[in-house]
Amino acid sequence: MCTATFANGDRMPLLGLGTWKSAPGEVGAAVREAIRLGYRHIDCASVYGNEAEVGEAIGAAIAAGEVTREELWITSKLWCNAHGRDNVEPALRRTLADLGLAWLDLYLIHWPVPIRPGVAFPASGDDLLPPAQLPLADTWAGMEGAQEAGLTRHIGVSNFSSRKLRDLLGHCRLRPEVNQVERHPLLQQPQLLADCAAAGVHVTAYSPLGSGDRPAALKGADEPMLLENPVIVAIAAEHGCSPAQVLIAWQLQGGLSTIPKSVNPARLRENLAAAAIELTPADLEQIATLDQHLRLVNGAFWLLEGSLWTMESLWDEV
Ligand code: A2P
Repeated sequence: MCTATFANGDRMPLLGLGTWKSAPGEVGAAVREAIRLGYRHIDCASVYGNEAEVGEAIGAAIAAGEVTREELWITSKLWCNAHGRDNVEPALRRTLADLGLAWLDLYLIHWPVPIRPGVAFPASGDDLLPPAQLPLADTWAGMEGAQEAGLTRHIGVSNFSSRKLRDLLGHCRLRPEVNQVERHPLLQQPQLLADCAAAGVHVTAYSPLGSGDRPAALKGADEPMLLENPVIVAIAAEHGCSPAQVLIAWQLQGGLSTIPKSVNPARLRENLAAAAIELTPADLEQIATLDQHLRLVNGAFWLLEGSLWTMESLWDEV
């Protein structure tokens, strides 16, 4: 399995298992099966509401001697209601307790959007804190403290634009090492990737398969189905593989890590096997033409009436 190597020599497997949308009652079996198949990177978050079950599965795999803690790469994310220097460590300790772990490999700020403590999801603009009231640098200081306390080996961000990342890099003592963002052929993000590469920040691609199982409220009308894209389907046919495997191979070949979600044993196996597929330069050229700058997870849920967020201020794009 290809890996990304960090400054301290730690190596993150590029292909991980996503657990967003994996339902309680299903996610544990999926994680256990994934580890049996050879997955060594599991992507979690407290807001997914399933970390305790993920943790049970990891614990069972370790207890059964299938894997050691050191062989696994476990990522989790700080939810938006725990922004602020003093809130990070307690939130991370809750995640560690849920996962049954002594440390994380990577902890990310999930969104650059602080919401009121105690609010899980904002119902009105009042539930969001004005960004100026809680600067991201203040939350980052808490992330640095958590890393220094040994609760996580690495720290990073998610859903950060180039501008927000640049601002943070100007204020940090310990650098963010990862930016996890939506990325797939319909949203290729070349500028963000170039900016992250120049800053030495590794990029993890989420929703690599187009997240077709997103809740209806997060879906636009007439959204294209990435897995049915004719160019992707044709490339898959040429290679005798599946469209999902083409989408995963495309990320890995670009040097990105990616976290396709599945709770289906056959698809877990299929997705892992994508690491062996080599796309040709002609395939890559064709995929490059598919970019539509289409965000599937566009953060519209933050733009409530009375909130100060706009699409422009969230993504720093006009
Ligand atoms: P399932 O969990 O039933 O396998 P993303 O990773 O972009 O969020 O996409 C996840 C969605 O893609 C889920 O609906 C998942 O369903 C589905 N999926 C995962 N792997 C495959 C695959 N190899 N072929 C088709 N669909 C897949």
